[in-house]
Amino acid sequence: MKSNQVTIPYREIGREEFSDDLLLLEQHAVEAAQKAYAPYSHFYVGAAVRLSSGTIVTGSNQENAAYPSGLCAERTALFSAGALYPNDPVEALLIVAFSQDERVETITPCGACRQVLMEVSGRFNRPFQVIMAGEKRAIVLDDNKGLLPFAFDGSDLPKE
Ligand code: THU
Repeated sequence: MKSNQVTIPYREIGREEFSDDLLLLEQHAVEAAQKAYAPYSHFYVGAAVRLSSGTIVTGSNQENAAYPSGLCAERTALFSAGALYPNDPVEALLIVAFSQDERVETITPCGACRQVLMEVSGRFNRPFQVIMAGEKRAIVLDDNKGLLPFAFDGSDLPKE
């Protein structure tokens, strides 16, 4: 038997260390969260994606009375970026959330979103930064793939 370990590199930074780029992305994500449609959970999530060109695309969670039909903020933003700018690689994704009116101190993408993050970095053959931003601090991963060890991706499917 062989025991192994997966380690995930990430940084934790205080608000005073937030760069101008990070603050701009955060501002977009906060505005996006205000546009969330979350009448069932009252959990308002905003995501902002920065593309290589510098374009910022945002998304928020969009819920549905048939719960699984709704979509998370991260996927709304990434699918929107893919639909609008299919050839512009994703450089960074920043996420914020509010529960009622309170800012949540860092929120992490759900499993389904992590799978979609993997597809996006695979599509452009380029890992991207994931920033989970709270009021006091942010958690930063420079490589989105850290969020999904042992991921299933297109390379697992049979070749034609
Ligand atoms: N949600 C997101 O938009 N992103 C996450 O990372 C976690 C959860 C949404 C889905 C649902 O509308 C609400 O938050 C409660 O789960």
